[in-house]
This record gives sequence, C-alpha cells and structure tokens, in this order.
Amino acid sequence: MFWKSGSVRESIDVYPEGTSLIAVDSNPHVVELLTENLKKAGERVHLKKFVLASVEDMSCSLGKPGVEDNSVAAVVCTMVLCSLTDDQTTKTLAEVKRVLMPVSSIIALAYVCKKPWTFQYFVQHLLTKLLIYPTLFNGCRCNKETLASIKQAGFKTVQAEKGWLQWSSEAISKPLNPFTLLLVRSAFAIVNSGIAGFAEK
Ligand SMILES: C[S@@+](CC[C@H](N)C(=O)[O-])C[C@H]1O[C@@H](n2cnc3c(N)ncnc32)[C@H](O)[C@@H]1O
Repeated sequence: MFWKSGSVRESIDVYPEGTSLIAVDSNPHVVELLTENLKKAGERVHLKKFVLASVEDMSCSLGKPGVEDNSVAAVVCTMVLCSLTDDQTTKTLAEVKRVLMPVSSIIALAYVCKKPWTFQYFVQHLLTKLLIYPTLFNGCRCNKETLASIKQAGFKTVQAEKGWLQWSSEAISKPLNPFTLLLVRSAFAIVNSGIAGFAEK
C-alpha cells in the first residue's frame, strides 16, 4: 500500500458529509493550507475551530481555546506522531484519549521504523539522531515505533497496515539543488516505511 505524505488534502477528501472539524497544529501557517483544502470540501466539512497549540496540551486551560474532555468522535492524525519525540508522543496519546468520546477512535498515518537490526532500521536511526531527516522533512522522524506507543497508551483494538509513503516534494523544508535532491530521494527510498490504521479508546 502507498500513501501520500502530504495528506491533509487526502484526509479532508474522505471526511463524511456534515463533518464538524477541530484542527490542531502548532504552526500558524498551516491555516492557509487548511483553508485552501476546506474550500474544495465545500459544505461537506465545517471548520468549528482552529486550535493553535501543541498536541501535547490541547486543553482549554487559562481561557485559551482548546479541545474539551470526551468531546470528539474521532481524532485523525496524519503525519504528526512521526514529528514528535517519544516523550511528546506519550503526552499526545494521553491527550487524544482525553478528548475522545467513549468508544471512539484515533485514525493515524505515520512514518515508522523498519524491523530492528535491518540496514533500513540503522539508516533510519542515524538520519533521525543526527537530525538530518527532521531538518530536511519539516521535523519528521523516520525511526519511531508508533504502533507500540499506541498500544502502550492503552488503546484497544489496535489495527494497522504497513506500507510506503509516496514521495512528495511538498514535504521538503527548503529548495534543494538537483544533486542534493537526488541524495535525499535515495535516502527516502531506503528509509520509507509507514503505517495507517486505527485504535479505539
Ligand atoms: C508532516 S506535517 C503533516 C501536516 C498534516 N497533518 C498533513 O497530514 O498534511 C507535520 C505537522 O505536524 C505539526 N506539528 C509538529 N509538532 C507538533 C506539535 N508538537 N504540536 C502540534 N503540531 C505539531 C507541524 O506543524 C506540521 O504541520
């Protein structure tokens, strides 16, 4: 299975009629991309609010806009869990459980690491620990064990499919010369590994 890595567009495309969306991101510039893609969705998706916050703390504390306890029917998390450190991931998954209504699900798409002690696993760790991959791909870490983190967070019925993420030049942080781009594309082909799935609260 191949998934596109710039997936905000694709996930909005499949939201059902009457979706009321709370979007969360710590980057205010995401609003432009979101607005552009919401226009294409038309009446089908209504943006309830954009919460400019870190996903580790989406609470409404101190009067700031946030997401209330047990208030959302589903959390769709595309390419965010792979942008977080392990500590941030633990806090974020606790937040996801807090905001989800009982018996509702998180749907996630993320980069994950390959099997331990394979060549790809070694390259994924090297490129992430040296901050090469996060610097090139807007903070993305390609060495995460996200499925294990979701299980550890206490979600039930964890189901995920493994696959590959499609190359997207939009995912690159800055323009690169042709030679560097070739190197980056080669590294991407080696470390490319993702999961898509869901888990119930
Ligand atoms: C690879 S992009 C994915 C964007 C979008 N979700 C999509 O699927 O196209 C990763 C996004 O995670 C956001 N992000 C990274 N760390 C975050 C954090 N701690 N809290 C909230 N958003 C974060 C970045 O600002 C960025 O928009």
